[in-house]
Amino acid sequence: MLTVRHVNKTYHNGGFFSNNRQPVLFDVSFEMKSGECLGIIGESGSGKSTLGRLIVGIEKPDRGEILFQGQNVWSREARLGHISAVFQDYSSSINPYFTVLDAISEMLKIMGQCDKKELTHMVVNLLKQVGLNAEYCNKLPHELSGGEAQRVCIARAISTGPQFLVLDEAISSLDASVQTQILNLLKELKERYQMSYLFITHDIQAVTYLCDRVLFFHNGQVIEQSSVSKLSQIKNEYSKKLISSVIPFENIKK
Ligand SMILES: Nc1ncnc2c1ncn2[C@@H]1O[C@H](COP(=O)(O)OP(=O)(O)OP(=O)(O)O)[C@@H](O)[C@H]1O
Ligand SMILES: [Mg+2]
Repeated sequence: MLTVRHVNKTYHNGGFFSNNRQPVLFDVSFEMKSGECLGIIGESGSGKSTLGRLIVGIEKPDRGEILFQGQNVWSREARLGHISAVFQDYSSSINPYFTVLDAISEMLKIMGQCDKKELTHMVVNLLKQVGLNAEYCNKLPHELSGGEAQRVCIARAISTGPQFLVLDEAISSLDASVQTQILNLLKELKERYQMSYLFITHDIQAVTYLCDRVLFFHNGQVIEQSSVSKLSQIKNEYSKKLISSVIPFENIKK
């Protein structure tokens, strides 16, 4: 379903007149199967969000290619309605002047749905999917709690029935009990709609709960891959350090 092949990315660095480029991703390759949930874990600055942005087509790799169902994600047709994203910063993800109804129906309008009654009906149904009632339609973002705002972002992301969601630290800014609620919601939606997730996080426990497989990222490279059920067999010292900083290594399910 998703093929990431020899992807490299650099960013301009060192002032306007400088030709310096900072390498951020080096030769990243991996595959994802349909219905799979892949976790990406790595320390801050290792290039996880950059990879997420390349996969949703916001930015372009310098070298290499990213194919979704055989088509390059850089092509709008390949991703429109099929790939969606939910980011960490839910408060700035929604236009502050948009009601919840406007925010969720935005993508549906782009996809050609313009009947107002039908749009409202679809939005109310989407709100229900994420555990919010119809009264939320007229609320503005500042009237929502963090958990509610992230639910609205998820409703918007699934509005076009995508097969693939990129979740970049989507639960990180929420408090612990709301994180659990949103994780449960993501798990439920994934099963209901058979979606695939790329789940970018610092939280190995969330990975073990939601994902089938995990990629360990270090300095812009994939240093190890493992299925979640075989985490106890990982070899790389850095990956071991990443997991054991959160879960004592001997407690990992064998
Ligand atoms: N638009 C940009 N222009 C220049 N440099 C950038 C840009 N975006 C990211 N970088 C740099 O690329 C590197 C990787 O950043 P990225 O945001 O992908 O890391 P990350 O793994 O998501 O980190 P975190 O866990 O903190 O979110 C960092 O050194 C960052 O400063
Ligand atoms: Mg990031």
